[in-house]
Amino acid sequence: MKKVAVITGAAQGIGRAIASRLSKDGFAVALVDINTTTLNEVKKEIETQGGQALALQADLTKLDDIQTAINRSAEWGSLSVLVNNAGRVLINPFLDITEQEWDAIMTLNLKTVFFAIQFAAKRMQSGGRIVNLSSISGRSGRPDQPHYAAAKCGVISLTQSAALAFASHGITVNSVCPGVVDTPMTTAIHEVRAKTLGITPEESLARMAAKIPLGRLEKAEDVAGAVSFLCSPDAAYITGQALNVDGGMEMN
Ligand SMILES: NC(=O)c1ccc[n+]([C@@H]2O[C@H](COP(=O)([O-])OP(=O)(O)OC[C@H]3O[C@@H](n4cnc5c(N)ncnc54)[C@H](O)[C@@H]3O)[C@@H](O)[C@H]2O)c1
Repeated sequence: MKKVAVITGAAQGIGRAIASRLSKDGFAVALVDINTTTLNEVKKEIETQGGQALALQADLTKLDDIQTAINRSAEWGSLSVLVNNAGRVLINPFLDITEQEWDAIMTLNLKTVFFAIQFAAKRMQSGGRIVNLSSISGRSGRPDQPHYAAAKCGVISLTQSAALAFASHGITVNSVCPGVVDTPMTTAIHEVRAKTLGITPEESLARMAAKIPLGRLEKAEDVAGAVSFLCSPDAAYITGQALNVDGGMEMN
């Protein structure tokens, strides 16, 4: 039976790169996203490269949609990997954040991750791998995205709890903490920050890039490589960890 890897938020950015990489690693990839247009492009791209892909449209802020996506993936083959990648950020000063913004960020970045793990762990019959996308924002404070930082810190905690809960079932659970990745999310962040600082988005991004010890922006493929490793046989003895994949920006 084919080994299925579910990747949420697979229509663009980091999720798209993870889907492509896990397909090359031999997994049949179940691509989950709210955006069907680009999702179908990713499916075609993977099939053209000789992989197997299933496109599942879902609004992952809805519990029913999470459950349906996981169950359909588990019926398609043997559910082996879940990558909780879908996420969103909102840049807003601490004092201006509304209840609605708090709930929206917490829901997709944390509540969704919890329930996706719960639904997937019930369907992983013979062990499995779960990888959650946290962030370096989960490692230290962020005054213009405190809700996002709290959610991403929560993902690290959830990873540890799930690792303990499912260790005896042969399921490892780890998180990765990317830095500044060249994706639509990062472009959007620097459009907002640039307005506040009265500079161009390119200047805002360049200032951030100058703080990266390895001297370049992160590529989505850098994150995909780390996720691939955590899903490989070489990572069988690693669980409950949060791996910074950030060019040296955070060292704890
Ligand atoms: N870009 C970065 O620099 C960076 C850094 C650290 C962590 N991360 C994390 O990595 C992950 C991916 O980031 P990215 O930069 O590729 O983001 P992105 O915005 O480029 O892509 C996110 C994907 O998630 C999907 N999505 C959003 N809301 C959804 C919903 N309700 N239901 C289903 N799908 C939904 C979007 O359609 C999109 O395809 C996120 O969890 C993000 O927080 C990103």
